Parts: sequence; structure tokens; C-alpha cells
Amino acid sequence: MTNILVTGSNGQLGSEIKELSKNYPNIQFVFTDIEELDITSIADIESFAAGKEFNYLVNCAAYTNVDGAEENKEMAELLNAEAVKNLATISKQNNIVPIHVSTDYVFSGKGFKPYSEEEQTEPQSVYGDTKLKGENYLQEICPNHITIRTSWLYSPFGKNFLKTMLNLGKERDELQVVTDQVGTPTYAYDLAMYIMHIIERLEKDNQFEDFGIYHYSNEGVCSWFDFATEIQIVANNKCKINSTDSESFKTLAKRPHYSVLNKSKIKHIFELDIPHWRGRISHCINRIKS
Ligand SMILES: NC(=O)c1ccc[n+]([C@@H]2O[C@H](COP(=O)([O-])OP(=O)(O)OC[C@H]3O[C@@H](n4cnc5c(N)ncnc54)[C@H](OP(=O)(O)O)[C@@H]3O)[C@@H](O)[C@H]2O)c1
Repeated sequence: MTNILVTGSNGQLGSEIKELSKNYPNIQFVFTDIEELDITSIADIESFAAGKEFNYLVNCAAYTNVDGAEENKEMAELLNAEAVKNLATISKQNNIVPIHVSTDYVFSGKGFKPYSEEEQTEPQSVYGDTKLKGENYLQEICPNHITIRTSWLYSPFGKNFLKTMLNLGKERDELQVVTDQVGTPTYAYDLAMYIMHIIERLEKDNQFEDFGIYHYSNEGVCSWFDFATEIQIVANNKCKINSTDSESFKTLAKRPHYSVLNKSKIKHIFELDIPHWRGRISHCINRIKS
């Protein structure tokens, strides 16, 4: 039986994997979050993994507060970099394939065409910098890993832009949202499905050699303004979305102006179509409403 350890499983992505796990009766999942397994402690991971023979480790834990990381660099470094080093070390020692999640924030955001996996990284924030360090540890210590860089995650769980816009859209007549930051929203449910698809492929193909970094988001391109507008339309909210720019909407961490990810590699290697962002909002909103 396939044995999967999921870390940080109370977050957005981890919760989606938990929901999907019901569709995989032949896979044994062990879901953990900081209470059961604090990944910043290598001794804890070592003793947790001892004798359990995990085949895969899906790391959904991270310090994801992008502005908070500017003021709390040590915490971001500990969770996004040092803890990934711990997971890489234990994975290597125990022959576990780590499936890790990273971010579009490893890039400068100064580009104008979708970023491929080979493109030069140049993080502009503490969050992006610490996530890149985590990627590098994994690459160095446990080369047989899958790292998926994703962007603009949303789900019915935790805090995210879709839920914020949904709630504000009910309360307010108008909202200002930036048009000069362009990327792609990613429904965490779709990413979780893709992760399960990758695991199934690795299970079937014991000659698999294409380990490394992959990009995944939903298909398409939009600004936060477009995303917010679509959310109000789908939710049937009357709130008007007005355009603003990053100059008028200052944040502690610098945000990339352009962070669209090129997904050719993941589609080529794993041969699964990716849904367009616009068509996925209603699925998420319906789940939130029910
Ligand atoms: N959110 C986005 O827009 C976005 C965009 C691009 C990439 N990503 C990446 O996608 C991945 C999943 O993101 P997400 O939004 O699902 O994250 P999330 O909702 O913030 O979930 C992270 C989980 O990790 C837990 N955690 C914190 N410290 C831990 C520790 N020491 N040991 C174990 N677990 C710990 C958190 O618990 P607490 O809540 O109690 O702290 C939380 O349940 C992350 O790698 C993130 O960097 C996210």
C-alpha cells in the first residue's frame, strides 16, 4: 500500500488533499500539522517517520504571510528554508519522495512572458527569498524530489483573496483593486488533484527520472482587479470593483507586477490538462455556500 505523509495539512492545500483522500482507498494518508509534527524540528520528523515506511511526503506547511515575513524574517527562514532542509534530509535517509510546494515569488516579477522553470530567480521579498532557499536545500540534499511552484492560491479553507473579496463584496458598494499586478489564480483543489495525479504516475512508473521543479497554476492570465470582478459576478454581489495601482496600495512586501507561470513542462511530463482560472471560481464559491 502507498503511504503518504502530509505536513501542514490544516492549511488550504493540505485541507484539499484531505478532502480528496477519500477518493483513494488504496492509499494510506497520515495528515499532520504543527500539533502532531513540527517540521522545524528534525528530531521530531525523524522519530515520527521511524518505522512508518512513507513513500511520499507532501509538504503543505509554510510561512505564507508575505507581509508578515518582512518583519518576522527568522520565522519565515525557519519554516520556509530550514524546515525544508529537515524534510529533505529525512526523505533522503528514508527513501521518501518529497513533493514540495513553492511560489511564483521566487521571480523578480519584472518579466513580460510566462516564467519557465529554467528562468533566472530573483526574489524581491523575504517570503520569496526564504522559499527559494527551501527549494535549493531540496535540490541539493534530495534530488529525487518534485517541487511545484504555484501562484495566487484560493480555496474554501483559511484566508485567501477569494474569501476576502466575497465577504467585502457583500458588505460594501465599491472596492479598489490593483490592475498592475498580473498573474494566475490557482484553485487549491485543482492543485491537490494534480499532486495526486503525479503520485499515481510515480507509482506506475518506477523508471521515472524527471524529478525537479515544475510550474502549476490554473490556465489563463489576469490582474487582481479582473479576479475580484469575476468573483463578484459569480457570487452575484452588486459591489463595483474600481481599478487602482500598486503605488496607491502600498504593502510591506514588494509584490511582483508579472508572475504568470509557464506550465508547458508539467503538462508535457504528466499529460493532464489544466482548467482555466475563470471556470473554477463557481466551484469554490458553491462549496463555501454549502
Ligand atoms: N497561499 C498562496 O497564495 C500561495 C501562493 C503560492 C505558493 N504558495 C505555497 O503553497 C503552499 C501551501 O500554501 P497554503 O496557502 O495552503 O498554506 P497555509 O494555508 O498557510 O497552510 C500552511 C500550514 O502549515 C502549518 N504550519 C505552520 N508552522 C508549521 C510547522 N512548524 N510545522 C508544521 N506545520 C506548520 C500552518 O499552521 P498555522 O496556520 O497554525 O500556522 C498551516 O496549517 C505553501 O508552500 C505556500 O508557500 C501559496
